[in-house]
Amino acid sequence: MSRAALERRLSRVAGFDDPRVEFEQYPTPAGLAAHLVHLADVQGDLAGRTVLDLGTGTGMLALGAATRSPARVLALDRDPDALGVARENERRIAPESEAATETEVEWLLADATRHPICASDATVLMNPPFGAQRGNEHADRAFLATAAEVGSVSYSVHNAGSREFVEAFAADEGGEVTHAFRAELALDRQFDHQTSEREVIDAEVFRVVWS
Ligand SMILES: C[S@@+](CC[C@H](N)C(=O)[O-])C[C@H]1O[C@@H](n2cnc3c(N)ncnc32)[C@H](O)[C@@H]1O
Repeated sequence: MSRAALERRLSRVAGFDDPRVEFEQYPTPAGLAAHLVHLADVQGDLAGRTVLDLGTGTGMLALGAATRSPARVLALDRDPDALGVARENERRIAPESEAATETEVEWLLADATRHPICASDATVLMNPPFGAQRGNEHADRAFLATAAEVGSVSYSVHNAGSREFVEAFAADEGGEVTHAFRAELALDRQFDHQTSEREVIDAEVFRVVWS
């Protein structure tokens, strides 16, 4: 499936029913998810691999990865309601053709920062909470720590200006940032603190190879 076709398919993923501000629940835009999944596929990080989506939310990244022949996809979130939305999305975007085979996603209710995952060679995908709204900058640090522990490579979305932080964190763990690109998160209004109907957040995406 081409990147454009994947974006079209992921654009049918529904958002959170009742998003929780404390968990920073907003969906990854379909275009960004398709870009990230496509890059991971081209890098050989999805086919035949165990893929882990930390903070899966609507399931956007896990469902995208499932189209690229991974051996397993584990998607975890701490919010059972989000997992309900993600499961519903799996049904919603299922291919109509019987011939199309996709890896079934395993949905797990778990805290990504105290995870139950026994792995060391997974491909980790994540759009973690940034913490910026609550003055809790780099809430994504704990997610990166999990990626370093269970992954051999990760793709993660962070707020703009995170490059130095991500590179330093990776270097401390013996890892290296190999790819980085800018992205915009165009988000429809869902929380009271958002002043306009559509908010655009500048973000950055990093591929990190962990040692
Ligand atoms: C920015 S949203 C991204 C969601 C998802 N990638 C998507 O596109 O729908 C962050 C997600 O992380 C989840 N989350 C926050 N803290 C978590 C934690 N400690 N463990 C697991 N999930 C967490 C939230 O519930 C939310 O679904």
